[in-house]
Parts: sequence; C-alpha cells; structure tokens
Amino acid sequence: MALVSAKDMLEKARDGKYAVGQFNINNLEWTKSILQTAEELKSPVILGVSEGAGKYMTGFKTVAAMVKAMIEEMHITVPVALHLDHGTYDGCYKCIEAGFSSIMFDGSHFPIAENIEKTKELVAVCNHLGLSIEAEVGSIGGEEDGVIGKGECADPEECKKIADLGVTMLAAGIGNIHGKYPANWEGLSFETLAAVKKKVGNMPLVLHGGTGIPTDMIKKAISLGVAKINVNTECQLSFQAATRKYVEEGKDLVGKGFDPRKLLAPGAQAIKDTVKEKMEIFGSIGKA
Ligand code: 13P
Repeated sequence: MALVSAKDMLEKARDGKYAVGQFNINNLEWTKSILQTAEELKSPVILGVSEGAGKYMTGFKTVAAMVKAMIEEMHITVPVALHLDHGTYDGCYKCIEAGFSSIMFDGSHFPIAENIEKTKELVAVCNHLGLSIEAEVGSIGGEEDGVIGKGECADPEECKKIADLGVTMLAAGIGNIHGKYPANWEGLSFETLAAVKKKVGNMPLVLHGGTGIPTDMIKKAISLGVAKINVNTECQLSFQAATRKYVEEGKDLVGKGFDPRKLLAPGAQAIKDTVKEKMEIFGSIGKA
C-alpha cells in the first residue's frame, strides 16, 4: 500500500470515538518496529518526523524513500501516513517535495495573523496535492528537538480562525507538554478542549505530548474530539531501558552479543510493546 494522507483515518477515528497514534521515528529500527506493530494489530498509524530527526536520518528524502520501501518490502497493508512534526515553513515545502503524505505547519510562535497567512498558503498547496495538514494554536509546553513551547492554552476563537482555513486537523494547546510531565503538572485543561471543540465543530483535534498522560485523561480527551495522539519520548524511554538492561546484564559480551542486530533487538521489541500498549488505550486496534 502506498503512503496515505491522514484525512480519512482521522475522520473515521473522530466518528468512531478512538484516536490514531502518531509515533515519531528516529531510525530504521524505530520505523520497522512501529510498522510491524501496526500491521500485526491491524491499526492505522502515523509516522511522525521532527525536523531534527529528519536531519539525523540525512534528510527528508532518505526518510520518505526508507518508509515507502519498508511498506512494500514488509507487505504493510494498513494505512500509513508519513507526517512532518512541528514543521517550519521551509521544512513543510521540503517534506512536500520529498514525498511525505502529511505535514504539520507549526506557526504557533508567530502572531496569529502570520500563522493564518502561512497556514492558508500551505493548505492550498496540500489540498492541490491531496496531502493532509495539521496546524497549531497555543503552544505545547516543554522542548522537542529544539522546538520550545511555553505551554499556554489555545484561544478557542483563534482555533476557529485556523480551522476555517480548511486544515485537516488542529493541535490546540490544552496544558499538554512534550517529554515527561512534572510532578506538579495540573493535568489537561478539558475546559479549554471543550471550548475549542465547540468552536471548531467536526475538526479532528490532535493531542501532542502523549507520553505519560494517564489513561483516564486520554479517554476523556478522545470523547471530547481528539482523534490523533502524538507519542515520542515514551518509545525513547522504553528503548533506553531495554538496551541498558541488555548491556548491564553483560549480554553484549557473550558470543556475538555485540552484533547490532542482537544489541538493538531488545530496544526494538520494547518500542513494539509501547506502541501496542498505546494503540490499545487509543482504541485503534482492528480499525485498519
Ligand atoms: P512526547 O514526546 O511527550 O510523547 O510528545 C510527542 C509529540 O507531541 C510529538 O509532537
């Protein structure tokens, strides 16, 4: 199956009251683990690529070529969208050119008029090419690959202005944070989420910072219109823990335990376990 836009899968998720996971990728192992899990569980999936991760993998063209080839060689039949995460204006055009099927333009740090102007232009380009586009209002707190946000809640009126431009999905800050949540985190602002939903109607909403949000909050967010949930740090942490255990147990010192295919196997399995756990909570299993 070829890469698909995220539009159909998100509209189905919104109507079916579940969410599709966006899992960020860093390398071949990450991508393979996520695709394998999605296929095994018959779940649609979105592969997220931050600009930093794209650069690390030598560029967006490499990423698109790798993902497309993996879908073919691994006989993936579930819908897969390849999505730029927190894209800059230039990054969006680079990904479009590289063959991504979905982009996020993060204009949340611009004054709203400039966010609107740039989002509008990119919506026209994406519509023409059949790609999905995510926009952001209010910022996601914390730091992800150099993108730093203060974490202010979105203004529902501004959300409506951006939603009316015809974006496919909207990320609205509701007190969510990239990375681990601090002990004194106040939780998601369901008040903001409900107010945004009221203004934007049927627009599928995106919840960033999926790592560490308690299951009951995830379920409530889905019931209020969230149809896409982004997870990045949690796969990194589970990969780290499994790799650390392998090395600390001295397994890399036994036989050919140093072989990268053995050394990276527990981490790759840990990513699969995390993705499965998230897909169960999000309700996307069997929805492909
Ligand atoms: P986490 O790293 O907190 O899971 O957030 C991921 C994300 O929102 C990607 O945009």
